[in-house]
Amino acid sequence: MGRHELTGAERGRSSAGRVERGPAQSVECRDVTVRFEPVTALAGVSLRVQPGEFVAVTGPSGAGKSTLLWTLAGAVRPSEGQVTVGSTAIVSRDQAARLGVAVVPQGNGLAAVLTALENVTLPLLAAGHGSAAARAAAADALAEVGLAESVGHLVEELSGGQQQRVAVARGLALAGGVLLADEPTSELDHGNREIVLTLLRAYAAAGNVVVMATHDPEAAAVADRVVRLDEGLLSVER
Ligand SMILES: Nc1ncnc2c1ncn2[C@@H]1O[C@H](COP(=O)(O)OP(=O)(O)O)[C@@H](O)[C@H]1O
Ligand SMILES: [Mg+2]
Repeated sequence: MGRHELTGAERGRSSAGRVERGPAQSVECRDVTVRFEPVTALAGVSLRVQPGEFVAVTGPSGAGKSTLLWTLAGAVRPSEGQVTVGSTAIVSRDQAARLGVAVVPQGNGLAAVLTALENVTLPLLAAGHGSAAARAAAADALAEVGLAESVGHLVEELSGGQQQRVAVARGLALAGGVLLADEPTSELDHGNREIVLTLLRAYAAAGNVVVMATHDPEAAAVADRVVRLDEGLLSVER
């Protein structure tokens, strides 16, 4: 795939502060309830995703899709129930990130006044990579989403679809086994949607976990398994 050695499933990082990656790990939430009073965003949700599996989470706006992803990422603490990555109970976003859990946020979460390359490089530096390796991994990830020509452009100069691809590149570069992608194709035309979905599929096929929230049935169709959220209740679609 032409990936730099720091990206991809096979990556194992051991230096202090970096992602500790042992064998492929599953992600699971068990009986998870999340309340934002008076709303119950997740109501007793249980989901286990195995290494190598690509799961799509569908459901209408407000159903709890983003809440589920951020709960799996450790950023939202459930009022009841538990999230585990491998055999480790997740208690914070930092801890989940150290275990290799990366998020592609809905609405991309990029810094508008930094370049595409800087947006992907900085979190790799924060995760403990050396600067040359971080820049190379970021450039590779951006090339994979078709943005090799745009690495030096400010995010605010890019189209919505290009920005979304930068966010996907950042997630793929940062992920150490688990990628949680929140509506990662909502701004993309057909060709770029295919590119992103192919990358997500390949990342899962390499032995990683991919969970993608989407309300696009064509995007969900490429997943191995589809679950549906409705008012915080999870059901199996296929
Ligand atoms: N931080 C928050 N504070 C209060 N309410 C929230 C918060 N995040 C989500 N919610 C509420 O939880 C419900 C589920 O939201 P969300 O997970 O964003 O749904 P989806 O991603 O499926 O559109 C909605 O009613 C939303 O308003
Ligand atoms: Mg959402």
